[in-house]
Amino acid sequence: MGSKEEYLRKPSQSQSPMRLKLKILLLLLSTNILSIYIFYGSADHHRWLPSSVRHWDFAGLLRELNATQSKLSASQAQVVLLNQRLASTKSLLERLLADVGQAHRDEAPEQGLERWAHQLGGELKLAVGPHKLPLGYTPNLGSHEMYPTLGTACRRFQEELVQFMSYDVGGECPSDEVFAQRLMLKGCEPLPRRRCHPKSPAGYVEPTPFPESLWSIPPDTSIAWDAYTCKNYTCLVNRSKQKGSYDCKDCFNLGGREKNRWVYSDGELNYGIDEVLSVKRGAIRIGLDIGGGTGSFAARMRERNVTIVTSTMNFNGPFNNFIASRGLVPLHISVAHRLPFYDSTLDIVHSMHVLSNWIPDVMLEFALFDIYRVLRPGGLFWLDHFFCHGKQLNSTYVPMFQRIGFRRLRWHAGRKLDRGFEKDEWYVSALLGKPLT
Ligand SMILES: *[C@@H]1O[C@H](CO)[C@@H](O)[C@H](O)[C@H]1NC(C)=O
Ligand SMILES: *[C@@H]1O[C@H](CO)[C@@H](O)[C@H](O)[C@H]1NC(C)=O
Ligand SMILES: *[C@@H]1O[C@H](CO)[C@@H](O)[C@H](O)[C@H]1NC(C)=O
Ligand SMILES: *[C@@H]1O[C@H](CO)[C@@H](O)[C@H](O)[C@H]1NC(C)=O
Ligand SMILES: *[C@@H]1O[C@H](CO)[C@@H](O)[C@H](O)[C@H]1NC(C)=O
Repeated sequence: MGSKEEYLRKPSQSQSPMRLKLKILLLLLSTNILSIYIFYGSADHHRWLPSSVRHWDFAGLLRELNATQSKLSASQAQVVLLNQRLASTKSLLERLLADVGQAHRDEAPEQGLERWAHQLGGELKLAVGPHKLPLGYTPNLGSHEMYPTLGTACRRFQEELVQFMSYDVGGECPSDEVFAQRLMLKGCEPLPRRRCHPKSPAGYVEPTPFPESLWSIPPDTSIAWDAYTCKNYTCLVNRSKQKGSYDCKDCFNLGGREKNRWVYSDGELNYGIDEVLSVKRGAIRIGLDIGGGTGSFAARMRERNVTIVTSTMNFNGPFNNFIASRGLVPLHISVAHRLPFYDSTLDIVHSMHVLSNWIPDVMLEFALFDIYRVLRPGGLFWLDHFFCHGKQLNSTYVPMFQRIGFRRLRWHAGRKLDRGFEKDEWYVSALLGKPLT
């Protein structure tokens, strides 16, 4: 790789000729200003003192004072002049500095890479690009080079990135899922690693066919998972029996509570899938479940011939593999990620428990606007068990949902009784519509 050494060795050598010129210029200017000051300032200084004031010689004193006054007013004129010169020197300096800055930008050695703090090397430089298109090929996109997609937030974590990008090209990817996800959660998404093979499980078993796969759990040998304390499907399922707080603790036990989710409607916070689908009478065909953990929502929708993509991170367990094993499509992105769908394309977006008050207000607003963006006109946003404090509900969130532009089709707010209800925690379930026009 050699990238680490290169990046340690580079204290901005490439800028030095321009820097030197700038320094000389500044030196010249500052010595000039100094000489102006000496000439106009200090040289006259001693003459301001009356040299021969005789005792009781009032006329003489008056003459001296008169002379001093006229000298002072002459000095004042000189000060005004000095001020003018300083001002013009300052504007000259500002112009010069602007020119130097422009020249520096023009001579950026590698287009597109100039804003990185250190020079890039090896696999990381390739991951950032640019890559020239083959000669003779005329692209439709108005460019002769391509840049791999890479979140600019990655630039803030260059040391971690250098570590992440130190792997054997063509070999097995390092087992560092937690590290990789930490980078993603810091906004470095998508990750730049592109040329290695993930570890394969030792005893992979081909998946179960539909529809059995939707509600069955594959053997643990189907997964190679080193990075977490929870290494396999059995461990995920068993979390319901263990102490400790986990995301979606009992969700992976597909025979338990999970089996009944969204099947029945209680007329309050729990909506049933069939009643939601009936709102649009067959016009719900494709959609997204944000933070769908196990994929059970997508499984229920598939049983109704609706195709749902499930986005999820891997929170101390192989969530993405679990969803895929059921024959459903997992999407490994965080809630901070811009949704990878084009405008006005999806019939439905669902999210349970995930979009809630733990997300900073502005980030939540980003996510909600993005949901609005990807929904087709008339599309549905099923906000399922959004939680917050009672005070926040009317002061922050209700106005936020209105700001986004959703129409309220159904709305239920209720005290959160499962845990911490004494702390004034509330749930909201809502069916929000994107207006047709
Ligand atoms: C003071 O100086 C001015 C000229 O600078 C002169 O006209 C005036 O007569 C002088 N007054 C006295 C008292 O010397
Ligand atoms: C499954 O994972 C648990 C803990 O994560 C481990 O103790 C167990 O040996 C694993 N089982 C298999 C078959 O790998
Ligand atoms: C899961 O729990 C069962 C019993 O509750 C236990 O026999 C089994 O070893 C556990 N498996 C893992 C991987 O923790
Ligand atoms: C799903 O589609 C299949 C094939 O088109 C059809 O036989 C089945 O009845 C549909 N199921 C539902 C719940 O609409
Ligand atoms: C929010 O406002 C509505 C109507 O303005 C009110 O009925 C409801 O009780 C308020 N909710 C909370 C949690 O304060």
